[in-house]
Amino acid sequence: MSEQPVTRVDAAEPQWATAWPPAEGAERARTLFRDQLDHEPDGVWSAPGRVNLIGEHTDYNGGLCLPTALPHRTYVALSVRDDDRVLLTSAQADGGALWEGRTDRLGPGDLQGFPAYTGGVAWALAHDGVLPAVPAFEAAVDACVPFGSGLSSSASLSTAVAVALDDAAGESVGASDAGRVRLVEACVRAENDVAGAPTGGLDQSAALRSAEGHALLLDFRPGLSAEESARRVPFDLAAAGLELLVIDTRAPHENADGQYAQRRATCEAAAATLGVATLRDVTPDGLDAALAALPDDVARRRVRHVVTEVQRVERFVALLESPEGLAAHADELGALFVASHRSLRDDYEVSCAELDVAVDTALAAGAVGARMTGGGFGGSAIAIVPAGTEQDVARAVVRAFAERGFAAPQFLTTEPSGPAHRES
Ligand code: GLA
Repeated sequence: MSEQPVTRVDAAEPQWATAWPPAEGAERARTLFRDQLDHEPDGVWSAPGRVNLIGEHTDYNGGLCLPTALPHRTYVALSVRDDDRVLLTSAQADGGALWEGRTDRLGPGDLQGFPAYTGGVAWALAHDGVLPAVPAFEAAVDACVPFGSGLSSSASLSTAVAVALDDAAGESVGASDAGRVRLVEACVRAENDVAGAPTGGLDQSAALRSAEGHALLLDFRPGLSAEESARRVPFDLAAAGLELLVIDTRAPHENADGQYAQRRATCEAAAATLGVATLRDVTPDGLDAALAALPDDVARRRVRHVVTEVQRVERFVALLESPEGLAAHADELGALFVASHRSLRDDYEVSCAELDVAVDTALAAGAVGARMTGGGFGGSAIAIVPAGTEQDVARAVVRAFAERGFAAPQFLTTEPSGPAHRES
């Protein structure tokens, strides 16, 4: 290999996607609203993107997930109207051009993209009885959640719209955690039925139910009460001299939607073959018998991932909650990240070259643990790194990407942030 690329690569500094201070985010959305709609909004609401610490592709299998909310948020300035019109604008869509619709055209089959994650939520809130009818409204959106990065920019948009409409319509269903579960369900419905993405509830739950300084243990076993379905787990990496580094690979998610739907269908078919409601009902002790009862190798590997991943979440949480604290268990926490990544790469087959290089390079550069996060096929990886080494680890990843001819990645540092709420 010639030496030239190395010289060029060494010069490339990591790019950091920083979160806006909330007052700035709110002001941006408010200014866009004023510019496009010529009056003041009723208010501004926001909701965070998320990283999932561990528990991947488990939500739609009735399993466990452990997300934290990012400080990166989507800001929505919104007003309700008293006719049947819906006017929407986003700094991230069509250069802010105004989209116009009507309340009777927001349901399944009518919308795609940005209007589906905003108008579709209004339809779903009425469908689920959170609101008495589909509201007419105007909204302006601006966001610092990186788009298409597996950090749930879509769920941060839909959940910000949900709290905004709930509040602006005077319902305040989201004032309680049980009410927020209803908002989660409506946002999932909008994503599944209107936007056409068959995702589980991880992203929307993270955006609506997380708490600052905490990770959120989510249990998707069907039939649980709101209280049983979530627990806030203290997550203070800084106190242990560690930091969470997010590596956004910028890899294109080619065919990610079709692959996601396929994984989900395989799991549902395997559950049916095994005679269980969801794969959550396959216990670690029963795993060998379950694998023996499945007809093909692909299904066996998918099931093995789900069952072992749920076990990894349980262990991760036990370590976080142990009286000795996180610092005493950093190595094992890191090992669980690595085991999760291997399982997603080899058994679930949702990783890609960029994610694998990001993980391997971070580990070689001193990360305690690293794994892909989110749905996969591109998107982001996360690494637990000793505090103060994030710049060096990021540089190593930039170099490794450039050597392979991948697009330049970008990076985020993060601390566990708060849920969707009113800003101003
Ligand atoms: C995407 C989906 C989530 C979840 C993850 C994988 O983010 O939206 O519902 O399934 O992938 O854990």
